[in-house]
Amino acid sequence: MRKPANSSVPLADLITRRWSPRALDETGEVSWDQLRALLEAARWAPSFGNTQPARYLVGRRGDDTFTRILGTLTKRNQSWAHRAGALLIAVMITRNEKGEIPYAEYGLGLAGQNLALQAIAEGLVAHQMAGFDPDAARREFAVPDDAVPRVAIAVGVQAEPEVLGEERDVQRERAPRRRLPLAEFAYTGAWGRAAF
Ligand SMILES: Cc1cc2nc3c(=O)[nH]c(=O)nc-3n(C[C@H](O)[C@H](O)[C@H](O)COP(=O)(O)O)c2cc1C
Repeated sequence: MRKPANSSVPLADLITRRWSPRALDETGEVSWDQLRALLEAARWAPSFGNTQPARYLVGRRGDDTFTRILGTLTKRNQSWAHRAGALLIAVMITRNEKGEIPYAEYGLGLAGQNLALQAIAEGLVAHQMAGFDPDAARREFAVPDDAVPRVAIAVGVQAEPEVLGEERDVQRERAPRRRLPLAEFAYTGAWGRAAF
């Protein structure tokens, strides 16, 4: 199922096609070559002063890391993310030899969007999740104190919404995607004065 961005002008194809499905094919594979491409995309994101605050923990379905990442997710996210071909945790590095890294979360976010767009280019989908236990991830993978597990990411092969089982979840998967109107999003002249 496609849910393209309903934009007022045509956008770059990957941006139009990206969304966050929960319906994933439990037999769909995500190869190490594909994961390499996703992580290369993330690695080449811009960051403040090229401080590169993003790091990733990566597991493929069936391996030990996948199972341990899955165990850190909320029950709600586990209910669909167990069908992912790969699970990742994006970790934010907060300090380097010069002290605190400015804009570290911004940098992690930019890396995450690169990763999500590259997933589309690979014929996959990526779904980010705040619903996981960062402390459990820290313990599980011995993440050092100056690094913060910030978001989990399910990467997989999209499936039909019915794989979700419960009608409520199928409906949510089918629901239209919504955004603020452009007039409430970009201003010119003064705050609140629509640019478009
Ligand atoms: C930081 C972040 C945390 C999110 N956490 C969750 C989550 O825990 N569970 C979930 O199902 N979706 C989660 N999402 C997905 C958002 O709900 C989704 O991106 C948003 O509704 C916009 O939809 P779209 O990505 O399909 O355009 C998260 C997204 C982001 C960026």
